[in-house]
Amino acid sequence: IPALSAVPVLKKQLSVFVILACHSSQSHALKQDSVVEDISTDRGVISFKVNRKLLAQKLLEPFEKGQDEKFGLNSELLNTLKRGTTLVEYSSPNIAKKFHAGHLRSTIIGNFIANLKQTLGNNVIRMNYLGDWGMQFGLLGAGFGQFGSEEKLKQNPLQHLFEYCGSSLFLNHVLVLQVYVRMNKEAEHNEDMKQAARDFFKQLEQHESQAVSLWQQFRQITVDEYQHIYKRLGVHFDIYSGESFHQDQAQEVVQQLQSQGLLKTSEKGTGVVDLSPAGDMNSVCTVLRSDGTTLYITRDIAAAIDRKEKYNFDEMIYVTDKSQVNHFNQLFQILLVMGHSWADRCQHVPFGLVQGMSTRTGEVVFLEDVLDEARARMLHNMSQAKTTKEMDNPEDTAEKVGISALLVQDFRGPLLSDYRFDWDRMLQAQGDTGVFLQYTHARLCSLLQRNADIDATTFDPSLLLEQTSMTILQHLLRYDEVLYQSAQDLQPKHLVNFLLKLCHLTASAHRELLVKGSPPDVAQARLRLFRGSCSVLANGMRILGMCPVDKM
Ligand code: ARG
Repeated sequence: IPALSAVPVLKKQLSVFVILACHSSQSHALKQDSVVEDISTDRGVISFKVNRKLLAQKLLEPFEKGQDEKFGLNSELLNTLKRGTTLVEYSSPNIAKKFHAGHLRSTIIGNFIANLKQTLGNNVIRMNYLGDWGMQFGLLGAGFGQFGSEEKLKQNPLQHLFEYCGSSLFLNHVLVLQVYVRMNKEAEHNEDMKQAARDFFKQLEQHESQAVSLWQQFRQITVDEYQHIYKRLGVHFDIYSGESFHQDQAQEVVQQLQSQGLLKTSEKGTGVVDLSPAGDMNSVCTVLRSDGTTLYITRDIAAAIDRKEKYNFDEMIYVTDKSQVNHFNQLFQILLVMGHSWADRCQHVPFGLVQGMSTRTGEVVFLEDVLDEARARMLHNMSQAKTTKEMDNPEDTAEKVGISALLVQDFRGPLLSDYRFDWDRMLQAQGDTGVFLQYTHARLCSLLQRNADIDATTFDPSLLLEQTSMTILQHLLRYDEVLYQSAQDLQPKHLVNFLLKLCHLTASAHRELLVKGSPPDVAQARLRLFRGSCSVLANGMRILGMCPVDKM
């Protein structure tokens, strides 16, 4: 077995040993070397004793200036992953409809997946696919004609909003929503209104300039407002696309299906694609209404084909709640029967429902309320802990920590599970929460800061041989495996649990591996270990979508 050159080799050698051990009846014949100091067998159990000094040295080597962020990334395991262009579509709210908890989940999960893929060396395209087309715009347009003022909307949308609902808190989206809600109510009983809505949508479909311009304004106002929220969440998109972009292409898709002989007419007169294995129309997917208009799925087919042409992705990932599992299955199946073999590199990541998301003022209407409340509660907790005084911007810290709390609550379990929203539990400082991650990070930063005068460019690994250090080192050694696992199933729980464990181990290390008062060389080695933990923690937190704080 060749001499050790790097940590990945160490891991590989260990597995080679295990394989050899499994296949060899003469385990005593295994040779020890610099990595594995000693091999012993006892009643069917083979024990390998790792060279601790070497482990400490190799693992902590990268934590010199500039190398911290690369830790674990150049591993043999991670190098087996395919790298290419990954398009991640997430968030995708519907304009003029509610931005609900599902959209929040899609936003943070999609952001995690995009961050992960990017960290692993992929070229990532982040896309928001707005629900910006459909009958709701008919209602909205007609409603606006009735209750709104285009003049005012143009001149000063905020002001106009203010007049509308008497509050500037909820920003513009309320305006749109209010017109919509009011119109929906009216239309229930009022035939004229219904007709007006249909007429408006028809004008829109026929690209009539006035209707289009009003629609554009609604869209822009909403996007502007979302961007404000995305910014708070630390989320961004490379592309704002939407269903409206694929109106005409959706009709082309129907024609293609027709010419490929894939379009059937149902008894109801709708256009369907037969997806039943036996070809007996047992399971069909509707792509065309009887009045000749296209549907959500038809636009999705067109959008997927368009994205492949424009961005030539190697893989595409859609993030939505689990109610759309069937939709995406059908989408991928149709793309495949149309001959788009790349459809099997498209993937849907479904997630479960959030129950009981409410704030002090009642059920959540706007996402922004959730962020405000997380910040307010965190600020309150921080003021109790009396650390806020020393902070430049406690609000900002509270916001970052509050968002971390939301993320950990959401990411801890399997994405497909439903979970119950619980303010008190998620904001606990000691439990397995985002607050605990942030707290540990801040504590590590302050330790490093306080000892900034100690030169940590070199260190003696033989001073890190006690069990507390070793446990942390062995944990850090697993970082690449955790990223690998996350890349396989796109679940954030592996990383979350890895980081929580790291924080627990760090808490013990804080107690047992004192820096202050230790001889300089011991302090130096321990600082290096803490520096490693701090960097890996920060790297992992960033992938999850958190912004690590230095103080709290
Ligand atoms: N706008 C949709 C909704 O809120 C989600 C869009 C998901 N993406 C897609 N390509 N269909 O339900």
